[in-house]
Amino acid sequence: MYCIALSAAALLAILVPATLAQTYTACNPLNTTGCPNMDALGANATFHFNETWNPSIWEKHNQGTVRLDSGAAVFTVKRRKDSPEIRSSFYLLFGRLEVVMRAAPGQGIISSAILQSECLDEIDWEFKGGNTTHILTNYFGKGNQTDLTRGRDFAVTTAPQDDFHNYTIDWTKERIQWWYDGNMMRELNYADAWEGKNYPQTPMNIRIGVWAGGDTENNREGTVEWAGGPTDFGQAPWSMLVKTVYAKDYTVAKEYSWENMDASGSFEKVKIIE
Ligand SMILES: *[C@@H]1O[C@H](CO)[C@@H](O)[C@H](O)[C@H]1NC(C)=O
Ligand SMILES: *[C@@H]1O[C@H](CO)[C@@H](O)[C@H](O)[C@H]1NC(C)=O
Ligand SMILES: *[C@@H]1O[C@H](CO)[C@@H](O)[C@H](O)[C@H]1NC(C)=O
Ligand SMILES: *[C@@H]1O[C@H](CO)[C@@H](O)[C@H](O)[C@H]1NC(C)=O
Ligand SMILES: *[C@@H]1O[C@H](CO)[C@@H](O)[C@H](O)[C@H]1NC(C)=O
Ligand SMILES: *[C@@H]1O[C@H](CO)[C@@H](O)[C@H](O)[C@H]1NC(C)=O
Repeated sequence: MYCIALSAAALLAILVPATLAQTYTACNPLNTTGCPNMDALGANATFHFNETWNPSIWEKHNQGTVRLDSGAAVFTVKRRKDSPEIRSSFYLLFGRLEVVMRAAPGQGIISSAILQSECLDEIDWEFKGGNTTHILTNYFGKGNQTDLTRGRDFAVTTAPQDDFHNYTIDWTKERIQWWYDGNMMRELNYADAWEGKNYPQTPMNIRIGVWAGGDTENNREGTVEWAGGPTDFGQAPWSMLVKTVYAKDYTVAKEYSWENMDASGSFEKVKIIE
């Protein structure tokens, strides 16, 4: 990895096209050859967003601002189509993600901290701005959305929009655990995800951001309903705050390659470059 020193202000000047969904892949290795190798974290790292961040490690995507303020990275939805997101340039092949964050308020505003691969394996923490009592977990295997039992919501005693909490994902090839402030809320075993075929198992990077699922002009009715109802942009802005991110790669590697990948999407077909 290389380092460029760019101020937060310079970072804001980088214009990127808006996409609403946070689920996106530029090159899907399951049906495309020659998808680029990925940098592996290969170790562990802590990022405190009270200081500066390195935009070559955390790439800013989509319309909307991310700024450093009051000891945190502040992701703001101010107008329609704002969906500011940062993605790690490094990937994990099984690993651990800890995010200390405060969700954005606002009906229809979705805050998320997820792991996602280029073939659309995904493990999620999500927060609905209009819901102060529940936090959401979800996962996807290769973008398969047919099974509606993947998501699971959990009741919490303090609103995720009021305070910072520690949301952790611990991901091995046997199971995925979701931890909230040191309590394990959920465990998913490999076999429980359609005998492993829908089990996330390809190198994933970290994607953290906020978007308006309740934007009625840009989303389908079902999305608006899922998000908790229409967003009233007259009430904007809404911000999600992220203090700390800790990541640990459970594989010791320099890069991951898709060279040997086939349609199975199996972790056994991921080439590990040491
Ligand atoms: C590859 O699969 C993805 C997901 O199913 C699809 O969106 C994309 O269009 C496909 N690309 C090609 C080149 O077939
Ligand atoms: C993180 O990596 C450092 C070395 O870079 C090591 O000393 C430390 O034990 C690691 N921590 C964890 C939790 O793996
Ligand atoms: C940022 O937070 C970390 C952890 O709380 C702390 O060690 C560090 O000194 C802080 N840096 C600044 C510039 O406040
Ligand atoms: C919050 O989410 C839970 C679980 O999905 C749901 O039962 C509850 O009705 C929601 N509350 C609001 C205000 O939407
Ligand atoms: C998606 O997963 C379900 C099981 O949850 C399975 O029945 C279905 O065939 C899968 N679809 C694809 C395209 O693999
Ligand atoms: C988050 O919680 C886990 C326990 O689930 C703990 O091990 C870890 O140190 C916490 N991380 C941060 C950054 O506070």
